Amino acid sequence: MTPDYQFYTTPIYYVNAQPHLGHAYTSIAVDVATRFKQMDNHETFFLTGTDEHGDKIVQAAEKQETTPKAYADKISRLFRDLLPVLNISNNHFIRTTDPDHIAVVRQILSKIHDSGDIYFSSYEGIYCFGCERFYQERELKDGKCPDHGTVPEVIKESNYFFKMSKYQDWLIDHIKSNPDFIRPEQYKNEILSFLREPLEDLCISRPKTRLTWGITLPFDEDYVTYVWFDALVNYVSALGYPDGDRFKHFWPTARHFVAKDIIKPHGIYWPIMLKAAGMELYNGLNVHGFWNVAGSKMSKSIGNVTDPLQVTQTYGVDAFRYFLMREMVFGLDANFTEDILVSRINSDLANDLGNLFSRVLSMTHRYFKGEIKAPDPDIEAEKNLSLEPAAQQTIEVFSSAMNLCQFHKGLGEVWKLISLMNKYIDTHEPWTLAKDEAGTAMLETVMYNLIEGLRVVSCLIYPVMPGTAQKMQQTMGIEKPDNQFYTLDETGAWGRMTPGKYVEKPDLLFPRIDVSKLNANENKPPAKPFKPALKEPITIDDFMKIDLRAGTVLEAERIKKSNKLLKLKVDLGAETRQIVAGIAKEYSPETIIGKQVIVVANLKEAKLMGEVSQGMVLAAGHKKGLVLSGFDQTAQTAVKPGSAVK
Ligand code: MSP
Repeated sequence: MTPDYQFYTTPIYYVNAQPHLGHAYTSIAVDVATRFKQMDNHETFFLTGTDEHGDKIVQAAEKQETTPKAYADKISRLFRDLLPVLNISNNHFIRTTDPDHIAVVRQILSKIHDSGDIYFSSYEGIYCFGCERFYQERELKDGKCPDHGTVPEVIKESNYFFKMSKYQDWLIDHIKSNPDFIRPEQYKNEILSFLREPLEDLCISRPKTRLTWGITLPFDEDYVTYVWFDALVNYVSALGYPDGDRFKHFWPTARHFVAKDIIKPHGIYWPIMLKAAGMELYNGLNVHGFWNVAGSKMSKSIGNVTDPLQVTQTYGVDAFRYFLMREMVFGLDANFTEDILVSRINSDLANDLGNLFSRVLSMTHRYFKGEIKAPDPDIEAEKNLSLEPAAQQTIEVFSSAMNLCQFHKGLGEVWKLISLMNKYIDTHEPWTLAKDEAGTAMLETVMYNLIEGLRVVSCLIYPVMPGTAQKMQQTMGIEKPDNQFYTLDETGAWGRMTPGKYVEKPDLLFPRIDVSKLNANENKPPAKPFKPALKEPITIDDFMKIDLRAGTVLEAERIKKSNKLLKLKVDLGAETRQIVAGIAKEYSPETIIGKQVIVVANLKEAKLMGEVSQGMVLAAGHKKGLVLSGFDQTAQTAVKPGSAVK
């Protein structure tokens, strides 16, 4: 029998920035989908990697004073090294600088060029260097790039263009007649609405006079190809296009996972490129939403870019994977905060799952010294004790949800079963049954159902929490060798737990996180788990409202009864101010006299410990306290008291 194949991909990530929560999410989602398909008897191939050519990378490398290749090597390694940390089971990691990939890009470009769908033409247009692409006026927001907020530059140059317009009607037809081609529905509609406007031909080259870090066009040595034309091809070059067996088996089953930011290249350029190259189309595109952090888009300037490595180190990889899959409705945006993460860990993992596991196994030890007892079919039927129908129903709904990437729903179903089992314990009170010998057969039946239920739960959580599934199965004496998992058929075969065998005493699956301590900052690990979010951005006008001045400390004395405050007299040129500063732990009065400081000069007067303070001096925190900010000055560039600080 030939196996069913399934090929899943993540986007290949740009190496101009380090991996963050968003990248981790897509990779984990694909890992979950892949592991689920394996449970569903598919032979899978899971591809991820890095996108390494183009202007963005050149600029990032320049900033670090290194070459694009050396820079790409370094960041690509970070992406690659993160995979085992997140327990990601990819089969291949592609880099667009791989020679095999480069050869395939050139081959496909030649094919499309030979068929006449690439032409040379002079073009004047508006170009965003951040996006590395030309824009149409109508795509701009107030004349600026919608992504970068910068005004694009007018560029005139001769380039190669890909006749996308020729395929517009064909693509509309393909999307409409293949309802699964782009999922979920809202993104399919977004692409269709985009296709209502005439499609522009795509500029697929960049002259080497402007950019050399790319793949040289096979038909013109003076040009490199546009990054997207290079990057999209990874999905077939990684399979050994055109002749590899892998390509033959897996390509027709390809489903790409991307976030909403890159649906246009995937939903429009890529199918048209494949069609023009005479290749079979991919099977589908699964589009998810964006993670915001504490309500804002992740951005360096806000300082809320969340590092998946740190979250994993703090809370554990399975808790992180569970949270991401449970919290985001695939297709919609979601919000990440440490509080939401901790509350999910405490309620869903420590309370619901963790408690169930330890209750059932502890009771098995308490009542039967760890032995699995056989259920009594008569009592089971008479008292309606079987958990099998509920478990079968869970498996069914879970499977169809997981097949549609509705991970939150799949997990929600498993948690319904968990909560049903917790209630089952409360209803049947094994502790009461254990008091009387007459209750033994019923107790054995109840406990068997609970152990079987736990087995089903352990199998179903495997795609999302492989480590926890394994730990549960080890404790229950049913782990498979070599990290193997249970298929859906095996999962649903009720009655696999063998009476007469033993379970171990349970370990704590998920320790509860003490929220009060967390808020008091006490049980955080030494490395800060997340970068603190910076304050909301302000405009330059807001900033200009603050009158910052250079000042020289003339006098200083401690304030009685305070070990933190110093009273300073500061020369601001035109006047001398009294300022109370909280720096007494770091600076003695003697060491601060004569120092130049930066003063917030238009702060409203305040009283601290009974002393008037007419301003504030600026200082930065470090591990052990505060350090005053001042000026990088020499004798020649000495700053006069009262000078404005801008
Ligand atoms: N290199 C291109 C993709 C080429 S694929 C042929 C690229 N790279 S990227 O580094 O910018 O990655 C974009 C992808 O990262 C998104 O589509 C998504 O998978 C993931 N995410 C980046 N930020 C994200 C969020 N804030 N939230 C969720 N996923 C996000 O585009």
